[in-house]
Amino acid sequence: MTERIRVGLADHPYDIVVGRDLLRRIHELVEFPIKARTAALVTQPAIAGLYADAVEGSLRNAGLEVVRVEVPDGEVAKDLQVLAGLYTTLARIPLTRQDLVVALGGGVVGDLAGFLAATWNRGVPVLQLPTTLLAQVDASIGGKTGVNLAEGKNLVGAFHQPLAVIADVATLATLPDRERIAGLGEVVKYGFIRDSRILDLLESDPAAAKRGDPDLLEELVRRSAAVKASVVAADERETGERAHLNLGHTHGHAVEALTGYTAVLHGEAVAIGMCTALRVGILEGITPPDLLGRCEAILTELGLPTTAPQLDRDDVWATMARDKKADAGVRFVLLEGLCRCTVTTPDRANVDRAIDEVEAG
Ligand SMILES: NC(=O)c1ccc[n+]([C@@H]2O[C@H](COP(=O)([O-])OP(=O)(O)OC[C@H]3O[C@@H](n4cnc5c(N)ncnc54)[C@H](O)[C@@H]3O)[C@@H](O)[C@H]2O)c1
Ligand SMILES: [Zn+2]
Repeated sequence: MTERIRVGLADHPYDIVVGRDLLRRIHELVEFPIKARTAALVTQPAIAGLYADAVEGSLRNAGLEVVRVEVPDGEVAKDLQVLAGLYTTLARIPLTRQDLVVALGGGVVGDLAGFLAATWNRGVPVLQLPTTLLAQVDASIGGKTGVNLAEGKNLVGAFHQPLAVIADVATLATLPDRERIAGLGEVVKYGFIRDSRILDLLESDPAAAKRGDPDLLEELVRRSAAVKASVVAADERETGERAHLNLGHTHGHAVEALTGYTAVLHGEAVAIGMCTALRVGILEGITPPDLLGRCEAILTELGLPTTAPQLDRDDVWATMARDKKADAGVRFVLLEGLCRCTVTTPDRANVDRAIDEVEAG
């Protein structure tokens, strides 16, 4: 069943369409700008081989000319040099202010092509076609775009809301198991911050979630995308409630960064970071202790980590404090109860003890 989720932003509302086999039906699902003639389809080789033909066909059915532009596989594509190459390509097409960019891929392609669209001709529309679980439930929604510098990830970026998001859950069948399971880390997060039905679904058949059962995945994507959509609509620029999406990301980001962004995938780091945040909350007297057991049990059933690698504690603190989400002190999203978040700066000794516990396993 195809479902539309509205992202109700006052200035630029848009739809997230969740369903299966949608990539060949884009022309039926999206209302393109009337004057658009050309679509620059940005993707990576591994994804292009699987899905670009279907996407090109349906963009042509929408009356668009399609120019396919491939960028290198992996996070290395979120790079200023790659972006400079894309600008040159768009200039040569030429891609005009009436035209659009289409992002086909995971969060890497979505962030890069989104930033390209945000900056090309002072902003052209971008259609997001996410093909990883992480991108379908998180990265493609909410308008954050950007590229990395050697000095840090996502340091150059812009808010640029998409024209629409088409989350074709059938594409997750070709995703490596580890990538799909890592994406479930974010799904579990949505369960704890807003929609506890997600946790019930995962608990009732964790094996199905782990092996990527299509019906279950579709419902999980639908529910997770709906949570992200409603949080973003309430707080587009992250001045308040949007921060709740960072549950598990404070220690999680440090683990990810200090292990070089490859040893631990983002969703795996979020799983670890949620365990830390729950322990911090318990030590602070804020979080009911039973939530930790529930979280660890779900993560373990899904094959996600609940313990952190041993890292130099000074480096962990330095990374947590440098995190752009940490303004005054190190801020944590903590749970006062199931689906009840609070943002605080906890006692440093409690954070240290929680990290000790998570590192000890
Ligand atoms: N903008 C945001 O709000 C936001 C939020 C979270 C993460 N991000 C960003 O997202 C990026 C990570 O995204 P990701 O986890 O999707 O990684 P990714 O884009 O690198 O994709 C993971 C791997 O899977 C491959 N792949 C993608 N779809 C596939 C498919 N359907 N079948 C087979 N292989 C496929 C890719 O080629 C890649 O090798 C990071 O750069 C992160 O900063 C952005
Ligand atoms: Zn995340």
